[in-house]
Amino acid sequence: MTFPLHLDLRGRRVLVVGAGPVGVRRAAALLAAGARVSVVALEAPADLELPVEQRAFVPSDVDGCWLVLACTGTVDAEVAGACEARQVWCVRADDAALSAAWVPAVTRVGDVVASVTAGRDPRRAVALRDALALALETGSLPLRRKRPARGSVALVGGGPGAPGLLTVRGRQLLAEADVVIRDRLAPQVDLPAEVEVVETGKQPHRPSWSQEEISALMVAKAQQGLRVVRLKGGDVHLFARGIEEVAACVGAGVAVEVVPGVSSAFAAPAWAGIPVTAKGLTQSVTVVSAHLPPGHPDSTVDWPALARLGGTLVLLMAVERLGACAQALVDGGRAAATPVAVIREGTLATQQVVLSTLADVRVDAAQVTAPAVVVIGEVVSARVAP
Ligand SMILES: C[S@@+](CC[C@H](N)C(=O)[O-])C[C@H]1O[C@@H](n2cnc3c(N)ncnc32)[C@H](O)[C@@H]1O
Repeated sequence: MTFPLHLDLRGRRVLVVGAGPVGVRRAAALLAAGARVSVVALEAPADLELPVEQRAFVPSDVDGCWLVLACTGTVDAEVAGACEARQVWCVRADDAALSAAWVPAVTRVGDVVASVTAGRDPRRAVALRDALALALETGSLPLRRKRPARGSVALVGGGPGAPGLLTVRGRQLLAEADVVIRDRLAPQVDLPAEVEVVETGKQPHRPSWSQEEISALMVAKAQQGLRVVRLKGGDVHLFARGIEEVAACVGAGVAVEVVPGVSSAFAAPAWAGIPVTAKGLTQSVTVVSAHLPPGHPDSTVDWPALARLGGTLVLLMAVERLGACAQALVDGGRAAATPVAVIREGTLATQQVVLSTLADVRVDAAQVTAPAVVVIGEVVSARVAP
C-alpha cells in the first residue's frame, strides 16, 4: 500500500545520480517543476545542458536534499542506502520493487493532473496514462475546466450521425459546455445531467425555431457568461446557415469558434461504399441543395448546366423532389441510365441504400424518407459495400 503525493519542489534541492537517458529525462522534468537540481554522474553526454558534477557518488551528496533520484543502473542500492540513513525519499530507477518512492506516469490536461502507477509496471502505467490523456482531451471523461469570465459560443459540426464521426475538438467543447443548442439532425451525444439542452428541431408542443430565434438564444446564453455549443448536423456551413450564427455572435461581441464537421454529403456515400469520385470514372463532384424543385422561381440551381456538367452529383434535401430533379437532368441531356443511389440515415444503424437509375428513380415514400443523400453518377456502379 502506498500513499500518493504531489510535491511542490520549487526552490528545493533535488539530487539526480546518473546522467543516462533516464537521469537526464528526470532531471529535465524536475527543473521544469522548479527544483534546484544537482546531477552527479561518472559520465554525461557532451551536449547535456545541465551542469553535472562528473565524479563518483558519495553518501554525503544526499545531505540537504529533499529528494533523490538514483538513475545509475549500477550504484542505485548504495544511493538508496544513503538516503534511508538520512531519511530522504529516494526513487530507484533500477528496481521499482526495492524503491521507497515512485515517479508516476503523468498527464496534464488543463488544470487536471493525473498520475498513474500500475502494479509497479511502468509500461502499463504509461499505457493507462495515455488512454486517460486521450479520454480527457477528447471529452469522453468530463474535464469541466473552470468557466472563463466571459461566455462563448462554439459552432460544432456534429457529423452525419454516427457518434464516432464527431471531431475531437467537437467532443472537447461538448464536454465543457453549459448549454447545447441542437439541430434536429445533430448526433445524439451523452451529456452530463446539468447541461441545458435546447432542441431546435420540430418538437411536439412547439414549431421549429426560426434562425433569428436560434441566434438570439446563443448570444443571450453567452452573454450570461455560459459556454454555448451550437451542435449542428454534418458540417457547420454546408446548407446549414452557420455563417448567420457566426455573424450574430461577432455582431454582439461574443467570442465564437467554428469547428467544421464531417458532412453527410460525403460521409453517407462513403459509409454506403460509394466513392464520390473514382479514377477513370469522374473528375468532379458537385453538391447541390434540392430544397426547391427545378423550375421554382426562387431556385438558383441551373439544372440544364448540371446535366451537361456530368461527373458526380450529390443532392441534399432532395427526397420529396427526386422525381422532378431526375427528370430535369434527363431533359438537360444526362443519360437516363445514369445510376442513382439514395442513402437514407447515412452512417446510422438504420441506414438504407436504394439503387436505381435516373429513368426509374422512384422514391417510394414508405421506402425512403428524409434525411437522405442522393448520389447520381457512374460512381454508384463502383460501389463496394463494406
Ligand atoms: C439542412 S441540410 C444540412 C446538411 C449538413 N450541414 C451536412 O453537412 O451534412 C440537411 C440535409 O442533409 C442531409 N443529411 C444530413 N444528415 C444525413 C444523414 N445522416 N443521412 C443522409 N442524409 C443526411 C439530408 O439531405 C438532409 O435533408
